[in-house]
Amino acid sequence: MEGINLNQIGVSFKGSGSYVPNQILTNQEISKKVETSDEWIKSRTGISQRRISGLSENVSEMGYKAALGAIEMARWDIETIDLIILATSTPNDLFGSAPEIQSKLGAINAVAFDLTAACSGFLFATITATQFLKAGSYKRAVVIGSDQLSSYIDWNDRRSCILFGDGAGAIAIEVTNELDNLIGFSMRTDGQRGSFLNLPSQNNQDLIIDDINFSSGGFSSIKMNGQEVYKFAVREVPLIIENLFKKTNFNSENINWLLLHQANQRILDSVGDRLNVSSEKILSNLSNYGNTSAATIPLMLDEAIRNKKIKENDIIATSGFGAGLSWGAALIRWG
Ligand code: COA
Repeated sequence: MEGINLNQIGVSFKGSGSYVPNQILTNQEISKKVETSDEWIKSRTGISQRRISGLSENVSEMGYKAALGAIEMARWDIETIDLIILATSTPNDLFGSAPEIQSKLGAINAVAFDLTAACSGFLFATITATQFLKAGSYKRAVVIGSDQLSSYIDWNDRRSCILFGDGAGAIAIEVTNELDNLIGFSMRTDGQRGSFLNLPSQNNQDLIIDDINFSSGGFSSIKMNGQEVYKFAVREVPLIIENLFKKTNFNSENINWLLLHQANQRILDSVGDRLNVSSEKILSNLSNYGNTSAATIPLMLDEAIRNKKIKENDIIATSGFGAGLSWGAALIRWG
């Protein structure tokens, strides 16, 4: 770790990328499948349309494209990447999809693994990566959020099928001995409330031979108690951000952006109100993509960076929340 004072080691954010599938499913089109309407969906969620992966697309393909964008923005030589973490709940290989992304990228010197924490996954994976960097173990990390929830939606359940979509986003993070751009973070889970939102396994019992049972693997579809998840989000997210502000001596006035997991516009507005963050600081693109789980935060981040909304040194308060239940927040300086 030549030239780096291990006591003052920090991280800087060098690039972002994203990818969404081409297929668009509008609210009007969903209303041909279940009894709902564009007006109902828009007024309750803020969502107008979402992207659905095509037959040749999957989590590692989308994640690869997003990662490539982040690496190109960072101008890194691919072989200098040490660590790749893929946040996903819908891997195309249950043994892990991150090594497939490593292979597609040709990142031969990286170690790659998956991390599952549903809609908090990207935040948890980003924090995890920064800890490897700050410990001095690795110098360059790519963190990806990629999810294909369309495969696990019950398309006959109007309470949940309207919310979700597919996509991927990624960031490139590097070690630095200058200012630490991860100002602070906090992560929480509460498994006791896990049944409010889950995607449980669905096993069929069978016999291998007489007297030896086994359960064949498989999953059901997303189960959600929308009202409880809503109440959880509007209570816990402001609290965890407020506590982070206190811990870091920041407040809603000296942040540039509030970047929340894109679940529902009403949740974004309510959290913004509770924190006294003015509406022009609240980033939102869920009208176009719906809730893409681990992908929403980097998808929004990349859009805001590429259209020059977020600039170098901007302070971003970000929060992921969802199944687990899990939630977390981080305060970062972009760049
Ligand atoms: N179209 C039309 N009507 C619908 C509908 C739809 N897509 N979904 C539900 N309804 C109906 C219900 O059947 C119910 O009718 P009833 O009173 O006759 O039984 C009525 O609308 C109210 O249902 P409810 O579930 O109370 O709606 P809601 O106001 O809580 O809104 C959500 C539903 C899902 C939009 C809202 O609860 C939500 O956004 N929760 C958070 C979900 C979330 O973000 N999950 C991911 C977190 S990571």
